[in-house]
Amino acid sequence: MKKVVLSGIQSSGTPHIGNYLGAMKNCIDLQNEYESYIFVADLHSLTTVKDPKKLAQSILDVVLDYLALGLDPEKATIFRQSDVPAHTELAWIFNCIAPFGLLERAHAWKDAVQKGHKDPTVGLFTYPVLMAADILLYQPDLVPVGKDQKQHIEIARDIANKFNHLYTETFKEPQEYTPKNGATIPGTDGEKMSKSYNNTIDIFTDEATLKKQVMSIKTDSTPFEDPKNPETCHVFKIYSYFASREEIQVLTKKYKKGGFGYGDAKKILLQKLLDYFAPFRQKRIELAGDLGYVKEVLRKGAEKARMTSNKTLANVKKAIGLTL
Ligand code: ADP
Ligand code: TRP
Repeated sequence: MKKVVLSGIQSSGTPHIGNYLGAMKNCIDLQNEYESYIFVADLHSLTTVKDPKKLAQSILDVVLDYLALGLDPEKATIFRQSDVPAHTELAWIFNCIAPFGLLERAHAWKDAVQKGHKDPTVGLFTYPVLMAADILLYQPDLVPVGKDQKQHIEIARDIANKFNHLYTETFKEPQEYTPKNGATIPGTDGEKMSKSYNNTIDIFTDEATLKKQVMSIKTDSTPFEDPKNPETCHVFKIYSYFASREEIQVLTKKYKKGGFGYGDAKKILLQKLLDYFAPFRQKRIELAGDLGYVKEVLRKGAEKARMTSNKTLANVKKAIGLTL
């Protein structure tokens, strides 16, 4: 039997190069070898997005981006979380076994509370429980995510374990699959790049906006003539994810020699990004002109996802005594 991969991405904006390098690329690479379930976590994005138009647009954007980047509906099951009721049903069942303290220790919740979140909701608190349900319904071997999601996978393992002990052995423990270089991609302000921080470099934005985003990457104040340290420079770091070893060496030399400004480095990065994503850009334009096809992909994906997840849910219901 083929091993299973599952991953989700929130519809809280348009995907950026952090999403691509952190998770999307791995999902696309793995679809050839694994049975793959890739979904838009639209219910999760309700914790942050309150604008209906923006939510609907983001759902389409995420799917369009994924398809343009090479996720293939013939190989992977692509769907929306909200089209598969088993996710919320299992989340409730998990809510009834997830320890309160476990969720209180979750980074995302702690951050929200510490940073004085205006309106921390119950949804934000139980976010990891819904995520555990998303994952465990499909019994995946691997969950490709960026490093920032590791704790959420740990929580899913804890919940699986608790369920297995409390009732019957039902769930396999999932493993996260993070990029080899292990990196969290910095945003234009040097913090983690995130759709919610307004610091992204978007994959498919128009050239003028991409230029603006790249040019706004924060750099230090080393004068133009002086040698610069590539290791502490975000422009260099981002470039190194897309460039070949030789190209990286060339840029390293330029940094160390001096007489080379951050503006020059940003121009090189911009060109690299334009070149790298050019073929995908064309594909995205074609797909955006055929939303009927995109919606059909989601419809078929949901059908398959409902079949798989309902089997697990039936086992769960039997295990906990909800089957008469
Ligand atoms: P965002 O923080 O932009 O809203 P999501 O939470 O939807 O992104 O994350 C989707 C996937 O992309 C997750 O697996 C996440 O770990 C990964 N990811 C997000 N931002 C980064 C980043 N800056 N570097 C690496 N991976 C990232
Ligand atoms: N929480 C993930 C993120 O913000 C998105 C997500 C929801 C997810 N459910 C998932 C990722 C299940 C992997 C598996 O990135």
